[in-house]
Amino acid sequence: MRFDDKSVVITGGVGGIGHALVDLFASEGAKVLFSDRSEEDCNDLSEAMKRKGLDTHYMAGDLRRKTYCEALIAEAVLTFGGIDILVNNAGIIPRGNILETTDDMWFSALDVNLNAVFFLCRAAIPYMQEAGGGAIVNTSSTWGIYPGPDHVAYCTSKAALAALTKSLGRDHAPDGIRVNAVCPNEVNTPMLRSGYTTRGIDPENAIEELGKTVPLGRIAEPGEIADVIAFLASQDARYICGETVEVSGAKPVH
Ligand SMILES: NC(=O)c1ccc[n+]([C@@H]2O[C@H](COP(=O)([O-])OP(=O)(O)OC[C@H]3O[C@@H](n4cnc5c(N)ncnc54)[C@H](O)[C@@H]3O)[C@@H](O)[C@H]2O)c1
Repeated sequence: MRFDDKSVVITGGVGGIGHALVDLFASEGAKVLFSDRSEEDCNDLSEAMKRKGLDTHYMAGDLRRKTYCEALIAEAVLTFGGIDILVNNAGIIPRGNILETTDDMWFSALDVNLNAVFFLCRAAIPYMQEAGGGAIVNTSSTWGIYPGPDHVAYCTSKAALAALTKSLGRDHAPDGIRVNAVCPNEVNTPMLRSGYTTRGIDPENAIEELGKTVPLGRIAEPGEIADVIAFLASQDARYICGETVEVSGAKPVH
């Protein structure tokens, strides 16, 4: 299997793409430690994996806390003896233009989407260096490359994450550590659906309509993003480093 005995840390494990990632990596032989906010949700996911015969570990906590980010990496090293793959998937999407963006929305976006990735990578890279290599896959967004409308905090945080990915990719390639990012456009997850629900719009209809704006005819399903992340983390992508890979069904950002 592609990830036999690999030690993998996945953030945002309980979310749409995160759930698909936990399932995929565990199914392909990885030793998985996943993270998310709620202890109860993490436990539910771990139990669901157990019912499929997959053993996973979790550590619940708030990625806005540096001590939690560092403890997560320490936990992987303690439990598995090292860390081969770090998947920085967790994210939040405060919505609004600058006049609608409060201090809290701005700082939360940067804390979860950018600063946590900085803390996690800084904690993980020494162990990867010691082991002679590793892979980090960050989840940016097509909106981090071409900012979409009225999401100033989100777009800024994802653009900074794309830049962080390229910087780390360049700096740590000599260590055998490949750092890449996936940049999805719209994906059918709670993050996308909640945007419709809070505006009183039925997500099913909205997603069907949204699909018509994508040249491939539909928005992405979580597993389709997880597959690209797994590819980037795998040996099949051994010469890909410092890249931001757009996964958009050919839909441009308007
Ligand atoms: N859904 C989309 O259309 C889309 C498009 C482009 C990029 N992305 C990115 O994909 C990634 C996964 O998103 P998703 O669509 O699966 O969203 P999601 O909301 O389903 O999952 C995100 C997960 O991150 C967790 N999380 C958020 N803040 C946290 C914190 N402070 N501490 C710990 N965990 C925290 C959430 O609890 C949630 O389970 C995100 O980085 C998102 O920005 C999503």
